[in-house]
Amino acid sequence: MSAPGRPKRESSLGEEVAKRPEGRPFSAPGRPKRESSPGEEVAKRPEGRPFSAPGRPKRESSPGEEVAKRPEGRPFSAPGRPKRESSPGEEVAKRPEGRHVAPPLLELEGLGKTFQAHRGLFSNRGAGRVFAVDDVSLALAGGETLALVGESGSGKSTVARLALRLLPATAGTIRFRGQDITHWSDSRLRPLRRSMQMVFQDPFASLNPRMNVRQILEEPLIVHRLGSTAERAERVTEVLRQVNLAPHHATRYPHEFSGGQRQRLGIARALVLRPDLVICDEPVSALDVSIQAQIINLLQDLQRQLGLAYLFIAHDLAVVKHMADRVAVMYLGRLMEVAPTAQLFAHPGHPYTRMLLQAIPRPDPGYHIARQDTASELPSPTAPPPGCRFHTRCPHATEICREQIPAWQELAPGHTVACHHARNLPPYGSSGPTATLPPVAEQRLRLYRQRQQERSTASAD
Ligand SMILES: Nc1ncnc2c1ncn2[C@@H]1O[C@H](COP(=O)(O)OP(=O)(O)O)[C@@H](O)[C@H]1O
Ligand code: SF4
Ligand SMILES: [Mg+2]
Repeated sequence: MSAPGRPKRESSLGEEVAKRPEGRPFSAPGRPKRESSPGEEVAKRPEGRPFSAPGRPKRESSPGEEVAKRPEGRPFSAPGRPKRESSPGEEVAKRPEGRHVAPPLLELEGLGKTFQAHRGLFSNRGAGRVFAVDDVSLALAGGETLALVGESGSGKSTVARLALRLLPATAGTIRFRGQDITHWSDSRLRPLRRSMQMVFQDPFASLNPRMNVRQILEEPLIVHRLGSTAERAERVTEVLRQVNLAPHHATRYPHEFSGGQRQRLGIARALVLRPDLVICDEPVSALDVSIQAQIINLLQDLQRQLGLAYLFIAHDLAVVKHMADRVAVMYLGRLMEVAPTAQLFAHPGHPYTRMLLQAIPRPDPGYHIARQDTASELPSPTAPPPGCRFHTRCPHATEICREQIPAWQELAPGHTVACHHARNLPPYGSSGPTATLPPVAEQRLRLYRQRQQERSTASAD
């Protein structure tokens, strides 16, 4: 019999488990199963591998060839909001062969968010509206990792919170498994929330210090009325094992754990409801490099075992290169470029992406591009530049960039860029430093791969 005051059970954990067998197909239709390490993966990945969407056409030409094939001088769209050729979201949603396929797990279309900016204590500076997210369209397939990158303040966390309906959107549509959930009430959303979870940068802030681990992990099950006491205890033990913590950790409190262990707890809490989508908001930024490698590899293992899709917010390009299937680049609230990971690193098409790749990340999580000239400062999100938001820092800016928002241009299948001059820019690397990550980041990337190699060798033994 259930205890007084305990909410009525909707279904037991057992039933829940039965509904989602461990061996459920983790990859979305069309997403190839990963059998090799990401290192090999990056090396082996054909440029146009269909990362996300089922039915995405296989790339047969290089971006250069692609550019050559396209007619020049396409009409630019009208000032203000341009006519979009296609957005990255539509890219995924469009099925060229007209086949019937399952919708992406998560779709964001024309998403926007403005905040009321607060006045400073002694001045009116900063008053007005913050244009945090503007016209963001993205799609994420089941089992896929899509990285969202950009400088601090570019709107990444706001996109995450909008996608999970933790914030109301000012504009646009959010679809989850094909259903438009943009305006769903909290009660209607509740069952769906089990499928969409978040891992935060600072697990300590998201874990109640007065609860022990068992209580922390059991709480979401109680809120969602899942399982009997015994079943919940079993689930807590199971999820602790999944994140490589021991059952006896269940009686400890968050402050008794190291940073890495606390992040494992944060992940366990996200996983306890068996989600399909996990949004990771800079989950390793606050950790030491060697601990970062453990957490990243854990996230990858969990993805393989459980078929999770990750929207992975990161500022560290080494992590992105190691983890992601595709990368979306944000600047001042807008998307600039979306591409398969290998393609993005080899042929970045947007001047901002190129700048990011050439920047030397500082160790702090909220780094800004390390350039000294004032033109390189991030403009205020309360007064974003008209036209292309990047024009105040872009070495290729012309008149049209200052006046018109660039339409999306497809440089290769799955590789779209919001830049007026995307097809006329010099090839990446022809006029300066290139493609490789800064040495510190390359070193980290090697470490992640090495750790992963060690683990796969150990598990094969
Ligand atoms: N609750 C809020 N109120 C006012 N402004 C906000 C709020 N949340 C975020 N912002 C602003 O929105 C912009 C984008 O923030 P955020 O999404 O946190 O960026 P990122 O995660 O890329 O660093 C920033 O200028 C930030 O100051
Ligand atoms: S549209 Fe113009 S300003 Fe914007 S990135 Fe392209 S060249 Fe630079
Ligand atoms: Mg953030």
